[in-house]
Amino acid sequence: MANKKLQGRRALVTGASSGIGLEIARELARQGANLVVVARRTDRLEALATELREREGIEVLVQTADLADPSAPEALFAATEGAGVEIDLLVNNAGFGAYLPFSDTSWERYEGMIRVNMTSLTHLCWLFLPNMKARRRGWIMNVASMGAYLPCPTFAVYAASKAYVRNVTEAIDFELKGTGVHAISICPGGTTTEFLDHANQRLKPGASLAMMSAERCAKISVRKMLAGRRNVVTGYLNSFLMFALRFFPRGMYAFFGHVSLALGVESVPVKPAIATGEAE
Ligand SMILES: NC(=O)c1ccc[n+]([C@@H]2O[C@H](COP(=O)([O-])OP(=O)(O)OC[C@H]3O[C@@H](n4cnc5c(N)ncnc54)[C@H](OP(=O)(O)O)[C@@H]3O)[C@@H](O)[C@H]2O)c1
Repeated sequence: MANKKLQGRRALVTGASSGIGLEIARELARQGANLVVVARRTDRLEALATELREREGIEVLVQTADLADPSAPEALFAATEGAGVEIDLLVNNAGFGAYLPFSDTSWERYEGMIRVNMTSLTHLCWLFLPNMKARRRGWIMNVASMGAYLPCPTFAVYAASKAYVRNVTEAIDFELKGTGVHAISICPGGTTTEFLDHANQRLKPGASLAMMSAERCAKISVRKMLAGRRNVVTGYLNSFLMFALRFFPRGMYAFFGHVSLALGVESVPVKPAIATGEAE
């Protein structure tokens, strides 16, 4: 059933060409929101736009953008708010990681990761927030990770980028009190998407049992956003584990980060196009 809060509103979703972002776009469309879908792979965005226009009867604009390009956020803002297309919900979901020892990842890959996961996300919040505040309504949903809670050896920059996302989002939401606008950080655990391929990870035998579907992750994310939550860890077990962390000394956190990754995934060689930060 369509949720009245989203009916007729417009959401901009980055990373809507696959995985969690694609399912968030589907869930928002199901609840009556119009969409602007953003990623590098235009063919996938066009296919999603056709699917959602036909099935949900909503408007969908396709915007191809490489969020590792510093000019991309301004261009997205100009193509939407700048052209009279109001954005009520900004979903900063695009992101990727690299599962390798710190010195074994190219600087180009780190630079792209930092731009996509942090710089563009922050820039987009900064661009879209003032109009939301002026209209006294809106939401920002920033997709972090359970990695936001822990230093993660072999995933150091990725996990640290997500700690940034969680912290900046919670601080923004605190500042937004009384404005009619809310921000939420989403901290998924293992979720079945293309993420592992792009992070040169492979699941270990049996680890798929601990994975959540992207559809479930998306539904939880939208529900918690509408409930006004500031931060959510997806899944009951994941929530419990992140809650329980506070009872352990900080000195153990990197060990926990190492063990939780080593139990679930192994590193596999990265595809050349991904290593240089290009879309496949
Ligand atoms: N899956 C998990 O286990 C997991 C766990 C915790 C957090 N997360 C987070 O969830 C978010 C979504 O990831 P996912 O799991 O759905 O992975 P995914 O299937 O690989 O999707 C990543 C999305 O980000 C987009 N993207 C990547 N680089 C981009 C760039 N330079 N410019 C524009 N778009 C870009 C991709 O689109 P194009 O390639 O078409 O550009 C794709 O749509 C990420 O922020 C990730 O860190 C995932």
